[in-house]
Amino acid sequence: MSGAAADNPQTQKKRVGILISGRGSNMVSLVEAARAPDFPAEIVLVVSNRPEAPGLAWAKAQGIPAIALDHKIFRSREDFDDQLHRLLLASGVEIVACAGFMRLMTSTLVANWRNRMINIHPSLLPSFKGLHTHERALAAGVRIAGCTVHAVRDEMDEGPILGQAAVPVLPMDTPETLAARVLAAEHKLYPQILRMFASDQIIIDGDDVITKYSITDDAELFSPTF
Ligand code: GRF
Repeated sequence: MSGAAADNPQTQKKRVGILISGRGSNMVSLVEAARAPDFPAEIVLVVSNRPEAPGLAWAKAQGIPAIALDHKIFRSREDFDDQLHRLLLASGVEIVACAGFMRLMTSTLVANWRNRMINIHPSLLPSFKGLHTHERALAAGVRIAGCTVHAVRDEMDEGPILGQAAVPVLPMDTPETLAARVLAAEHKLYPQILRMFASDQIIIDGDDVITKYSITDDAELFSPTF
């Protein structure tokens, strides 16, 4: 690296690839956060396994390299994951952020990106893994819901937890109103965790998460409030 390049903070930003399948609102929150000059990561690639994903069109309109990798044209999950891995490498991606990426991954892909691939899930893991989280949270009668950013492992919605945000469940909530409240929290949490992860304030060491920031112990959320 030349002296000029080494002095340029732009070159020290971590290169992030985002994987989506649909709406892409979490992707938007990451892209918008990454526009801040001091953000320690840049979004260099968006990949969607669904060509018609609205998030893909949005990314293209922003001038972000955005690729449709239609899973339907691949003979096997292995072939799809292999091509995805190549695309990420070709763009020099260092961190993969899954944002509503609705695909099961092969162990090979997960291993290739171990502790460099993160995901957001709309529940307070380990509760309510999988789909229909808000319906199940309401059926279970929980009074606090939320979202989780975690490192990706072979098992769906497993992996070291990097951060969580909690929201109250309100008496008249439907899955839709709860989803909207959790989604608003997702849009705040994911960029913050990416910021901390990309700047090594959060480090994953094996299966342990090491945090290099202070947390105040007075940030309680009561539900119901009193
Ligand atoms: C979010 O709720 C995310 O937590 C989950 O899928 C949803 C994706 O929404 N993994 P969007 O595509 O980011 O709007």
